[in-house]
Amino acid sequence: MVSYPRSCVFIDDLAFKNNLTEIKKIIGLKKSLALVVKADAYGHGLEHISKLAVDSGVDWLMVATVSEGIALRKIGIELPILVLSPIIDDEISEALIYDLRLVADDLNFMVRLDHQAHLLKKKALVHIKIDTGLSRYGIMPCQIKDFISNVKNFQNITIEGIATHFIDSAKRDDLSKKQIQAFNSAIHVSKVEGIHYKYIHLSNTSSILKYSDDDYNLVRIGAAAYGIDYQNAYQGRISPVLTWKARILSIRKRPAGSGVSYESTYTTQKETTIATLGVGYGDGYPRSLGNTAYVYMKGYKAPVIGLICMDQALIDITDIPDVHVGDDVELLGKNVRPYELSVFAGLNPRELAIGITSRVPRVTLAPDHSVRILDNFHYQKSSIKNETLISSL
Ligand SMILES: Cc1ncc(COP(=O)(O)O)c(C=O)c1O
Repeated sequence: MVSYPRSCVFIDDLAFKNNLTEIKKIIGLKKSLALVVKADAYGHGLEHISKLAVDSGVDWLMVATVSEGIALRKIGIELPILVLSPIIDDEISEALIYDLRLVADDLNFMVRLDHQAHLLKKKALVHIKIDTGLSRYGIMPCQIKDFISNVKNFQNITIEGIATHFIDSAKRDDLSKKQIQAFNSAIHVSKVEGIHYKYIHLSNTSSILKYSDDDYNLVRIGAAAYGIDYQNAYQGRISPVLTWKARILSIRKRPAGSGVSYESTYTTQKETTIATLGVGYGDGYPRSLGNTAYVYMKGYKAPVIGLICMDQALIDITDIPDVHVGDDVELLGKNVRPYELSVFAGLNPRELAIGITSRVPRVTLAPDHSVRILDNFHYQKSSIKNETLISSL
Protein backbone atom coordinates (compact mmCIF):
# COMPACT_ATOMS: atom_id res chain seq x y z
CA MET A 1 0.00 0.00 0.00
CA VAL A 2 1.38 3.38 -1.02
CA SER A 3 0.62 6.19 1.40
CA TYR A 4 -0.07 9.63 -0.05
CA PRO A 5 -1.46 12.84 1.46
CA ARG A 6 -4.56 13.81 -0.61
CA SER A 7 -4.91 12.21 -4.01
CA CYS A 8 -2.58 10.17 -6.14
CA VAL A 9 -2.40 8.71 -9.63
CA PHE A 10 -1.17 5.13 -10.09
CA ILE A 11 0.10 3.88 -13.44
CA ASP A 12 -0.23 0.14 -13.94
CA ASP A 13 2.66 -0.89 -16.20
CA LEU A 14 1.31 -4.39 -16.72
CA ALA A 15 -2.12 -3.16 -17.83
CA PHE A 16 -0.38 -0.93 -20.38
CA LYS A 17 1.69 -3.81 -21.74
CA ASN A 18 -1.37 -6.08 -21.89
CA ASN A 19 -3.29 -3.42 -23.81
CA LEU A 20 -0.48 -3.19 -26.35
CA THR A 21 -0.50 -6.97 -26.74
CA GLU A 22 -4.23 -6.91 -27.47
CA ILE A 23 -3.86 -4.04 -29.94
CA LYS A 24 -1.11 -5.92 -31.77
CA LYS A 25 -3.38 -8.97 -32.04
CA ILE A 26 -6.08 -6.78 -33.59
CA ILE A 27 -3.88 -5.00 -36.13
CA GLY A 28 -1.89 -8.11 -37.07
CA LEU A 29 1.76 -8.61 -37.83
CA LYS A 30 1.90 -6.78 -41.14
CA LYS A 31 1.35 -3.31 -39.71
CA SER A 32 3.64 -1.15 -37.62
CA LEU A 33 2.26 0.20 -34.37
CA ALA A 34 2.71 3.86 -33.49
CA LEU A 35 1.87 4.87 -29.95
CA VAL A 36 0.48 8.38 -29.65
CA VAL A 37 2.17 9.89 -26.59
CA LYS A 38 1.22 13.53 -27.00
CA ALA A 39 -0.05 15.57 -24.04
CA ASP A 40 2.16 13.71 -21.57
CA ALA A 41 1.02 10.36 -22.98
CA TYR A 42 -2.62 11.35 -22.46
CA GLY A 43 -1.71 12.34 -18.89
CA HIS A 44 0.02 9.03 -18.11
CA GLY A 45 3.62 10.34 -18.14
CA LEU A 46 5.47 10.90 -21.44
CA GLU A 47 8.87 9.50 -20.56
CA HIS A 48 7.71 6.57 -18.45
CA ILE A 49 5.09 5.40 -20.96
CA SER A 50 7.45 5.85 -23.90
CA LYS A 51 10.13 3.74 -22.25
CA LEU A 52 7.58 1.01 -21.55
CA ALA A 53 6.44 1.25 -25.17
CA VAL A 54 9.99 0.73 -26.41
CA ASP A 55 10.34 -2.35 -24.16
CA SER A 56 7.02 -3.65 -25.48
CA GLY A 57 8.08 -3.51 -29.13
CA VAL A 58 6.14 -0.46 -30.29
CA ASP A 59 7.55 0.66 -33.67
CA TRP A 60 6.90 4.42 -33.64
CA LEU A 61 6.07 7.20 -31.22
CA MET A 62 3.90 10.14 -32.21
CA VAL A 63 3.84 13.49 -30.44
CA ALA A 64 2.09 16.81 -31.02
CA THR A 65 5.00 19.16 -30.45
CA VAL A 66 8.68 19.42 -31.20
CA SER A 67 9.33 19.81 -27.45
CA GLU A 68 7.70 16.47 -26.72
CA GLY A 69 9.84 14.85 -29.39
CA ILE A 70 13.03 16.41 -28.03
CA ALA A 71 12.16 15.24 -24.50
CA LEU A 72 12.03 11.68 -25.85
CA ARG A 73 15.34 11.97 -27.71
CA LYS A 74 16.94 13.36 -24.54
CA ILE A 75 16.11 10.17 -22.63
CA GLY A 76 17.71 8.14 -25.38
CA ILE A 77 14.69 6.98 -27.38
CA GLU A 78 15.73 6.14 -30.93
CA LEU A 79 12.42 5.04 -32.44
CA PRO A 80 11.03 7.03 -35.34
CA ILE A 81 9.06 9.98 -33.93
CA LEU A 82 6.45 11.86 -35.96
CA VAL A 83 5.25 15.31 -34.87
CA LEU A 84 1.54 15.20 -35.68
CA SER A 85 0.80 18.93 -35.49
CA PRO A 86 2.04 21.69 -37.76
CA ILE A 87 5.09 23.49 -36.41
CA ILE A 88 6.29 27.08 -36.75
CA ASP A 89 9.43 28.02 -38.66
CA ASP A 90 11.43 28.67 -35.49
CA GLU A 91 11.14 24.98 -34.63
CA ILE A 92 12.34 23.56 -37.93
CA SER A 93 16.04 23.37 -37.15
CA GLU A 94 15.53 21.66 -33.77
CA ALA A 95 13.12 19.19 -35.34
CA LEU A 96 15.80 18.30 -37.87
CA ILE A 97 18.63 18.16 -35.35
CA TYR A 98 16.64 15.72 -33.21
CA ASP A 99 15.56 13.62 -36.20
CA LEU A 100 11.86 14.25 -35.80
CA ARG A 101 9.61 13.48 -38.74
CA LEU A 102 7.12 16.17 -39.70
CA VAL A 103 3.71 16.35 -41.29
CA ALA A 104 3.26 18.90 -44.05
CA ASP A 105 0.55 20.41 -46.21
CA ASP A 106 2.09 23.67 -47.33
CA LEU A 107 4.58 24.30 -50.13
CA ASN A 108 5.99 27.46 -48.54
CA PHE A 109 6.74 25.50 -45.40
CA MET A 110 8.41 22.82 -47.52
CA VAL A 111 10.63 25.46 -49.14
CA ARG A 112 11.81 26.62 -45.70
CA LEU A 113 12.20 23.05 -44.50
CA ASP A 114 14.26 22.13 -47.56
CA HIS A 115 16.49 25.16 -46.99
CA GLN A 116 17.09 24.40 -43.30
CA ALA A 117 17.77 20.75 -44.08
CA HIS A 118 20.33 21.85 -46.65
CA LEU A 119 22.06 24.12 -44.10
CA LEU A 120 22.13 21.35 -41.50
CA LYS A 121 23.12 18.70 -44.05
CA LYS A 122 20.08 16.65 -43.07
CA LYS A 123 17.37 14.86 -45.01
CA ALA A 124 13.92 15.93 -43.73
CA LEU A 125 11.42 13.08 -43.54
CA VAL A 126 7.90 14.24 -44.21
CA HIS A 127 4.43 12.71 -44.14
CA ILE A 128 1.91 14.48 -46.37
CA LYS A 129 -1.28 15.24 -44.45
CA ILE A 130 -4.52 14.86 -46.39
CA ASP A 131 -7.60 16.70 -45.20
CA THR A 132 -10.46 14.27 -45.74
CA GLY A 133 -13.02 16.29 -43.81
CA LEU A 134 -11.67 17.51 -40.48
CA SER A 135 -10.65 20.89 -41.95
CA ARG A 136 -7.95 21.10 -39.30
CA TYR A 137 -4.82 20.55 -41.34
CA GLY A 138 -3.84 18.97 -44.64
CA ILE A 139 -4.28 19.32 -48.36
CA MET A 140 -7.54 18.33 -50.01
CA PRO A 141 -7.41 15.17 -52.15
CA CYS A 142 -8.07 17.27 -55.26
CA GLN A 143 -4.85 19.24 -54.58
CA ILE A 144 -2.55 16.25 -54.24
CA LYS A 145 -1.44 16.12 -57.90
CA ASP A 146 -0.17 19.69 -57.89
CA PHE A 147 1.37 19.34 -54.47
CA ILE A 148 3.33 16.25 -55.44
CA SER A 149 4.63 17.72 -58.67
CA ASN A 150 6.13 20.61 -56.69
CA VAL A 151 7.41 18.53 -53.82
CA LYS A 152 9.36 16.22 -56.12
CA ASN A 153 11.90 19.00 -56.67
CA PHE A 154 13.07 19.35 -53.09
CA GLN A 155 16.55 17.87 -52.77
CA ASN A 156 16.65 17.71 -48.98
CA ILE A 157 13.20 16.29 -48.28
CA THR A 158 12.04 12.70 -48.55
CA ILE A 159 8.32 12.10 -48.66
CA GLU A 160 8.13 9.10 -46.39
CA GLY A 161 4.41 8.85 -45.72
CA ILE A 162 0.87 9.98 -46.27
CA ALA A 163 -1.76 10.33 -43.55
CA THR A 164 -5.20 11.53 -42.68
CA HIS A 165 -7.26 11.59 -39.51
CA PHE A 166 -10.83 10.53 -38.71
CA ILE A 167 -13.50 13.03 -37.77
CA ASP A 168 -15.31 10.65 -35.41
CA SER A 169 -14.42 7.02 -35.95
CA ALA A 170 -16.23 5.97 -32.77
CA LYS A 171 -19.69 7.10 -33.85
CA ARG A 172 -19.85 8.44 -37.41
CA ASP A 173 -19.33 5.46 -39.72
CA ASP A 174 -20.99 7.43 -42.53
CA LEU A 175 -18.28 10.11 -42.36
CA SER A 176 -15.48 7.60 -41.80
CA LYS A 177 -16.35 5.67 -44.96
CA LYS A 178 -16.29 8.86 -47.02
CA GLN A 179 -12.94 9.78 -45.50
CA ILE A 180 -11.47 6.39 -46.37
CA GLN A 181 -12.64 6.81 -49.98
CA ALA A 182 -11.14 10.30 -50.21
CA PHE A 183 -7.86 9.10 -48.69
CA ASN A 184 -7.68 6.17 -51.12
CA SER A 185 -8.20 8.52 -54.05
CA ALA A 186 -5.27 10.68 -52.87
CA ILE A 187 -3.09 7.57 -52.61
CA HIS A 188 -4.18 6.45 -56.07
CA VAL A 189 -3.33 9.82 -57.66
CA SER A 190 0.05 9.71 -55.93
CA LYS A 191 0.77 6.30 -57.41
CA VAL A 192 -0.15 7.51 -60.88
CA GLU A 193 2.27 10.41 -60.34
CA GLY A 194 4.99 7.93 -59.46
CA ILE A 195 5.10 8.55 -55.70
CA HIS A 196 5.48 5.52 -53.49
CA TYR A 197 4.83 6.05 -49.79
CA LYS A 198 6.73 3.88 -47.35
CA TYR A 199 4.09 4.54 -44.68
CA ILE A 200 0.36 5.04 -45.13
CA HIS A 201 -1.64 5.74 -41.99
CA LEU A 202 -5.10 6.65 -40.83
CA SER A 203 -6.29 4.15 -38.22
CA ASN A 204 -6.83 4.88 -34.54
CA THR A 205 -8.43 3.33 -31.45
CA SER A 206 -11.99 3.03 -32.74
CA SER A 207 -11.30 2.37 -36.40
CA ILE A 208 -9.09 -0.72 -35.96
CA LEU A 209 -12.13 -2.57 -34.61
CA LYS A 210 -14.23 -1.67 -37.65
CA TYR A 211 -12.24 -1.33 -40.85
CA SER A 212 -9.74 -3.73 -42.34
CA ASP A 213 -7.24 -1.25 -43.72
CA ASP A 214 -5.16 -3.74 -45.66
CA ASP A 215 -3.69 -1.04 -47.87
CA TYR A 216 -2.25 0.89 -44.94
CA ASN A 217 0.74 -0.23 -42.96
CA LEU A 218 1.05 2.05 -39.91
CA VAL A 219 -1.54 2.44 -37.16
CA ARG A 220 -1.68 5.39 -34.73
CA ILE A 221 -3.07 4.34 -31.38
CA GLY A 222 -3.63 6.51 -28.34
CA ALA A 223 -6.72 5.87 -26.23
CA ALA A 224 -6.81 2.05 -26.42
CA ALA A 225 -3.22 1.74 -25.24
CA TYR A 226 -4.19 3.60 -22.09
CA GLY A 227 -7.28 1.44 -21.65
CA ILE A 228 -9.70 4.19 -22.63
CA ASP A 229 -12.61 2.45 -24.30
CA TYR A 230 -15.82 3.81 -25.82
CA GLN A 231 -18.98 2.05 -24.71
CA ASN A 232 -17.01 -1.15 -24.17
CA ALA A 233 -16.19 -1.51 -27.87
CA TYR A 234 -13.12 -3.55 -26.92
CA GLN A 235 -15.31 -5.88 -24.83
CA GLY A 236 -12.94 -6.21 -21.92
CA ARG A 237 -9.78 -6.75 -24.00
CA ILE A 238 -8.19 -3.55 -22.67
CA SER A 239 -8.22 -2.08 -19.17
CA PRO A 240 -7.49 1.35 -17.74
CA VAL A 241 -3.80 1.96 -17.07
CA LEU A 242 -4.40 4.92 -14.79
CA THR A 243 -6.10 4.77 -11.43
CA TRP A 244 -6.73 8.00 -9.56
CA LYS A 245 -7.42 7.73 -5.86
CA ALA A 246 -8.22 10.25 -3.14
CA ARG A 247 -8.21 10.00 0.63
CA ILE A 248 -11.01 10.80 2.99
CA LEU A 249 -9.89 13.80 5.05
CA SER A 250 -12.95 14.25 7.26
CA ILE A 251 -16.34 12.64 8.01
CA ARG A 252 -19.49 14.15 9.56
CA LYS A 253 -23.24 13.56 9.88
CA ARG A 254 -25.71 16.24 8.81
CA PRO A 255 -29.47 16.28 9.43
CA ALA A 256 -32.11 16.13 6.69
CA GLY A 257 -32.50 19.46 4.92
CA SER A 258 -28.81 20.43 5.05
CA GLY A 259 -27.33 22.22 2.05
CA VAL A 260 -24.11 20.69 0.73
CA SER A 261 -21.12 22.56 -0.74
CA TYR A 262 -21.00 25.90 -2.58
CA GLU A 263 -24.26 27.29 -3.88
CA SER A 264 -26.22 24.62 -1.96
CA THR A 265 -27.07 22.70 -5.11
CA TYR A 266 -27.67 19.53 -3.06
CA THR A 267 -29.89 19.18 0.00
CA THR A 268 -29.85 16.07 2.20
CA GLN A 269 -33.15 14.14 2.20
CA LYS A 270 -32.40 12.31 5.46
CA GLU A 271 -29.62 12.27 8.00
CA THR A 272 -26.54 11.83 5.82
CA THR A 273 -22.96 10.87 6.50
CA ILE A 274 -20.71 13.03 4.35
CA ALA A 275 -17.04 12.37 3.67
CA THR A 276 -14.67 15.06 2.40
CA LEU A 277 -12.13 13.91 -0.20
CA GLY A 278 -8.71 15.45 -0.73
CA VAL A 279 -9.38 16.27 -4.36
CA GLY A 280 -11.02 19.14 -6.20
CA TYR A 281 -11.01 20.93 -9.51
CA GLY A 282 -7.60 22.35 -8.56
CA ASP A 283 -6.36 18.77 -8.96
CA GLY A 284 -8.24 18.34 -12.23
CA TYR A 285 -11.32 16.58 -10.87
CA PRO A 286 -13.83 18.29 -13.18
CA ARG A 287 -16.31 20.63 -11.57
CA SER A 288 -19.01 19.15 -13.78
CA LEU A 289 -18.80 15.93 -11.74
CA GLY A 290 -20.63 17.59 -8.83
CA ASN A 291 -23.98 15.83 -8.27
CA THR A 292 -23.35 13.49 -11.24
CA ALA A 293 -20.44 11.13 -10.56
CA TYR A 294 -19.72 8.46 -8.00
CA VAL A 295 -16.51 7.17 -6.46
CA TYR A 296 -15.78 3.54 -5.70
CA MET A 297 -14.82 2.22 -2.28
CA LYS A 298 -15.01 -1.12 -0.47
CA GLY A 299 -17.21 -2.57 -3.23
CA TYR A 300 -19.72 0.31 -3.08
CA LYS A 301 -20.47 3.32 -5.25
CA ALA A 302 -20.61 6.53 -3.21
CA PRO A 303 -22.36 9.44 -4.98
CA VAL A 304 -20.56 12.75 -5.31
CA ILE A 305 -22.89 15.33 -3.74
CA GLY A 306 -22.82 19.08 -4.12
CA LEU A 307 -20.47 21.11 -6.28
CA ILE A 308 -16.80 20.16 -6.51
CA CYS A 309 -14.64 22.71 -4.66
CA MET A 310 -11.15 23.73 -5.72
CA ASP A 311 -9.52 21.44 -3.14
CA GLN A 312 -12.26 19.09 -1.89
CA ALA A 313 -15.13 16.97 -3.13
CA LEU A 314 -17.95 15.58 -0.97
CA ILE A 315 -19.44 12.10 -1.10
CA ASP A 316 -22.40 10.44 0.58
CA ILE A 317 -21.19 7.41 2.56
CA THR A 318 -24.36 6.91 4.62
CA ASP A 319 -24.88 3.34 3.34
CA ILE A 320 -21.27 2.24 3.34
CA PRO A 321 -20.15 0.45 6.52
CA ASP A 322 -16.93 0.95 8.39
CA VAL A 323 -15.53 4.04 6.66
CA HIS A 324 -12.76 5.98 8.40
CA VAL A 325 -10.75 9.13 7.87
CA GLY A 326 -7.68 8.14 5.84
CA ASP A 327 -9.47 5.48 3.75
CA ASP A 328 -9.05 5.89 0.05
CA VAL A 329 -11.57 5.91 -2.77
CA GLU A 330 -11.19 5.37 -6.51
CA LEU A 331 -12.07 8.43 -8.57
CA LEU A 332 -11.11 7.00 -11.95
CA GLY A 333 -9.81 3.59 -12.96
CA LYS A 334 -10.93 0.00 -13.36
CA ASN A 335 -14.09 0.51 -11.26
CA VAL A 336 -14.94 4.02 -12.42
CA ARG A 337 -14.16 3.70 -16.12
CA PRO A 338 -12.94 6.69 -18.14
CA TYR A 339 -15.83 6.56 -20.59
CA GLU A 340 -18.43 6.40 -17.83
CA LEU A 341 -16.87 9.28 -15.91
CA SER A 342 -16.50 11.32 -19.09
CA VAL A 343 -20.23 11.01 -19.72
CA PHE A 344 -20.95 12.28 -16.18
CA ALA A 345 -18.53 15.16 -16.77
CA GLY A 346 -19.69 15.96 -20.29
CA LEU A 347 -16.12 15.52 -21.53
CA ASN A 348 -14.15 13.39 -23.96
CA PRO A 349 -12.69 10.43 -22.00
CA ARG A 350 -9.17 11.47 -23.04
CA GLU A 351 -9.61 14.77 -21.20
CA LEU A 352 -9.91 13.26 -17.72
CA ALA A 353 -6.35 12.01 -17.24
CA ILE A 354 -4.87 14.86 -19.27
CA GLY A 355 -6.62 17.29 -16.94
CA ILE A 356 -5.10 15.92 -13.72
CA THR A 357 -2.91 18.76 -12.50
CA SER A 358 0.70 18.82 -11.42
CA ARG A 359 -0.03 18.84 -7.69
CA VAL A 360 -1.21 15.22 -7.91
CA PRO A 361 1.66 12.74 -7.50
CA ARG A 362 2.15 10.09 -10.18
CA VAL A 363 3.31 6.70 -8.96
CA THR A 364 4.08 3.79 -11.26
CA LEU A 365 3.47 0.18 -10.30
CA ALA A 366 5.66 -2.37 -12.07
CA PRO A 367 4.80 -6.08 -12.45
CA ASP A 368 7.49 -6.93 -9.84
CA HIS A 369 5.58 -4.68 -7.37
CA SER A 370 8.28 -2.04 -7.40
CA VAL A 371 7.02 1.51 -7.15
CA ARG A 372 8.41 4.68 -8.68
CA ILE A 373 7.44 8.27 -8.11
CA LEU A 374 7.55 10.31 -11.29
CA ASP A 375 9.25 13.67 -11.31
CA ASN A 376 8.13 17.04 -12.66
CA PHE A 377 5.14 17.47 -10.45
CA HIS A 378 4.52 19.94 -7.66
CA TYR A 379 4.61 17.78 -4.59
CA GLN A 380 7.06 16.64 -1.99
CA LYS A 381 8.32 13.20 -2.91
CA SER A 382 8.94 12.54 0.78
CA SER A 383 5.18 12.74 1.38
CA ILE A 384 4.65 9.49 -0.51
CA LYS A 385 5.64 6.39 1.37
CA ASN A 386 5.88 2.79 0.40
CA GLU A 387 7.80 -0.10 1.86
CA THR A 388 8.52 -1.56 -1.56
CA LEU A 389 9.71 1.72 -3.02
CA ILE A 390 12.96 1.01 -4.82
CA SER A 391 13.67 4.09 -6.81
CA SER A 392 12.34 7.41 -7.87
CA LEU A 393 12.86 8.81 -11.35
C1 LIG B 1 -3.54 12.77 -35.64
C2 LIG B 1 -3.93 11.77 -34.59
N1 LIG B 1 -3.74 10.48 -34.84
C3 LIG B 1 -4.06 9.53 -33.93
C4 LIG B 1 -4.62 9.86 -32.71
C5 LIG B 1 -4.96 8.78 -31.74
O1 LIG B 1 -6.34 8.60 -31.64
P1 LIG B 1 -6.96 7.62 -30.55
O2 LIG B 1 -6.71 8.21 -29.22
O3 LIG B 1 -8.40 7.57 -30.90
O4 LIG B 1 -6.30 6.29 -30.74
C6 LIG B 1 -4.86 11.21 -32.42
C7 LIG B 1 -5.48 11.60 -31.17
O5 LIG B 1 -5.97 12.64 -30.89
C8 LIG B 1 -4.50 12.20 -33.39
O6 LIG B 1 -4.69 13.51 -33.17
